[in-house]
Amino acid sequence: MSIIEATGICKTYHRGREEVCALKGVDLSIEPGEFVSIVGPSGAGKTALMNILGCLDAPSCGTLMIDGVQVTGKGEAELVKIRRDHIGFVFQQFFLIPTLTVGENVGLPLIFSGIPYDRARIDSLLDKVGLSHRAGHLPGQLSGGEMQRVAIARALVNKPRILLADEPTGNLDSVTADGIYGLFDDLHRQGITVIVVTHNRELAQRAGRVITIRDGCVERECGYPHVSP
Ligand SMILES: Nc1ncnc2c1ncn2[C@@H]1O[C@H](COP(=O)(O)OP(=O)(O)OP(=O)(O)O)[C@@H](O)[C@H]1O
Ligand SMILES: [Mg+2]
Repeated sequence: MSIIEATGICKTYHRGREEVCALKGVDLSIEPGEFVSIVGPSGAGKTALMNILGCLDAPSCGTLMIDGVQVTGKGEAELVKIRRDHIGFVFQQFFLIPTLTVGENVGLPLIFSGIPYDRARIDSLLDKVGLSHRAGHLPGQLSGGEMQRVAIARALVNKPRILLADEPTGNLDSVTADGIYGLFDDLHRQGITVIVVTHNRELAQRAGRVITIRDGCVERECGYPHVSP
């Protein structure tokens, strides 16, 4: 069974009287443990699609199933639970809380989930992203690549099976971006389903499947569903 099954997804935004059709019937099946890149020109609808797959936004039409559960039509309270239990999200702009330490930032979703602050889990995630030595630092004391690694650790704290990242390396130099992709590859090898939007075609090729979105539609898919070993 696919972990994500999107069928006929449309998204129309309203800008005053103008209607913008950002997605025009996207069908997408993602298998558990896949590593997928999404590419396409600016304005193609990549962020619109990621926000829908991540249950941050509802489609105007079409259906979305996550882990066999129909998501479309659910209320906000249920969507919060689906997001919390299944999905980690990483954004281009890190969104760390500047007044909290690295460790506290990583642990923040636990508080929202009503789970006791789990120091051991936070330490093991910081170890996974290579930042154990930074747990007590503030985000302002880190480099961009380090901040993104903190954001990735935070996205993983609730043990999601799906990690979605929208232009996670857009603010990073190419060497640092490569390191972040290496981290995604590790997570994929550990069985997490990873979906990454990138403008960088070279980085995109590191995923098992590359999906091109153009003008609100899936234009092309290269590669095959390839799950982790
Ligand atoms: N909130 C909104 N209101 C109106 N139009 C929107 C809104 N969000 C996105 N759009 C429009 O929807 C289309 C798709 O936008 P989207 O942000 O998904 O593109 P993208 O592929 O992520 O582009 P980029 O690579 O620049 O991030 C664009 O034409 C955009 O202007
Ligand atoms: Mg975008």
